[in-house]
Amino acid sequence: MQFFKILTGTLTLLWSLPLVAVPVDVDSDLDYCDAQVHKSLAQLGSDKDYTMMPRNISPDDSMWHCRKASPDEWCAGFWPGVLWYEYESTRDAAIKKEAERYTASLEFLSQRPAFDHDLGFLMFCSYGNAYRLTGDENYRRIILATADTLATLYNPKVGTILSWPRYIEMLGGHNTIMDNMINLEMLFWASKNGGSHRLYDIAVKHAETTMKHHFRPDGTCYHVAVYDQKSGKFIKGMTHQGYSDSSTWARGQAWAIYGYTTVYRETHNKKFLNFAKKVTEAYLCRLPDDYIPYWDFDDPAIPDTSRDASAAAVVASALLELQQYVDADTAARYREAATRMLASLASDKYRSGNRRPSFLDHSTGHRPAGSEIDYSIIYADYYYIEALLRLKKYNEHKNVLATL
Ligand code: GLY
Repeated sequence: MQFFKILTGTLTLLWSLPLVAVPVDVDSDLDYCDAQVHKSLAQLGSDKDYTMMPRNISPDDSMWHCRKASPDEWCAGFWPGVLWYEYESTRDAAIKKEAERYTASLEFLSQRPAFDHDLGFLMFCSYGNAYRLTGDENYRRIILATADTLATLYNPKVGTILSWPRYIEMLGGHNTIMDNMINLEMLFWASKNGGSHRLYDIAVKHAETTMKHHFRPDGTCYHVAVYDQKSGKFIKGMTHQGYSDSSTWARGQAWAIYGYTTVYRETHNKKFLNFAKKVTEAYLCRLPDDYIPYWDFDDPAIPDTSRDASAAAVVASALLELQQYVDADTAARYREAATRMLASLASDKYRSGNRRPSFLDHSTGHRPAGSEIDYSIIYADYYYIEALLRLKKYNEHKNVLATL
C-alpha cells in the first residue's frame, strides 16, 4: 500500500512537469500511409477477390495474410475502413472504388443472425465510414439492419450484449468482453439515423453495467465479465487474451478508453466522461518511455516480451477525441500523450516501411493462444490512420468531432 502511494505520488509529479511539444508531421505520416496502401493494393493483385481481407503479416513475412470475410472473422471490416480513411485523406476516386468493392462483400452479414458481438467492428468500420463519406442510402439501410441484429444479443436481465454465444458453457454464463464497448457506437448511430430508440437504451445500459462490474477499483479492467444468464448476477471477472485474470491486458484497457469516450460523446452524461478519464489515467501511468505498451501491463517478462502497437493506435485516436471534452490542462496532457504515441509509431522501430506493406509492425493479437505475436495486424493500421486524420482535423480546426 505504502509502495502504491509512493508510486502514485511519483506519477502525479511526473504528470505535473511542463509539457514538451513532440513534433508529428501529420501530412508526411499520411503520405506514408498512402504509399503503403498502394503497395498493399499492388500486392493483392489486379484480379482481386474482394471477399479476401488483409488480416496480418508475420515478422518473417512481407505479404499480407488474407482471411475470407465471414461471421467469425472479426477483422474483416478494418481493411475496407482503412480504404475509406485513405479515400478521406486523398479523395482518390480509384481508392473509393476499391473501398466500395471491399465494403460490398460484407453486406451478407446484415442479412443473417448474429454469430457474435463483433458486428460493430465488422460493419461500422466499413459501412459506417462508407455512409459518412458518401451519404449513400443503401449503406444506411445496411447499418440499421445490422444494429437490429446486434441488439438480439442483448440480455435485459444482465444489462449487456452477449459477446460470445459459443462460449456460454465454457465460460460459465453470459459473457461480455471489454472489446464489446466498441460495438456500441453503431447502436448509438442507428438510433439517431432511423433506428429504434431502444438501441440507444441498450448501449447506455451496456455501458453502465460494464462500468459497474468490469473494472477494478484502480480503473483497470478485466477482459471478460461473466454473468448468470437468468438472474443477471455478476459471477466473475477473468481474462481471455491477457496474462492473467488479475492483470491488465493493454488492448482491453484501450477499448475501455475508446468506448467510454464514445459513450460520453453520445450521451453527454458526465459520469461517463469521469469514467473515461479514470480508465485513461490507469493506462497512461503504466506506459513505458516510448508510450507503446507491452501487450499486458503485468506480464512478469517485461521488458523481454512483445509490445502492442495496436493498443497505442487505439488510445492515440481516443485521446484526440477525449481531449475535446476535458479542462484545458487535461486536454493539453492528453494531446501530448497522443502525440508521443503517434511519434513513436512513426519511428523506424514501429513503422513497417519497406519491410512490408502494412503501416505498423509490433502488435500482439492473442499471446496466450500463441497467435499474432509481434505481427502487423490490420486493426492497428485502421486506428493509426484514424488517429492521424483526427490530429490533422485538430491542427486545422481545433476540432476532431467529424465522427461517424
Ligand atoms: N478480441 C478482439 C481483440 O483482440 O482486441
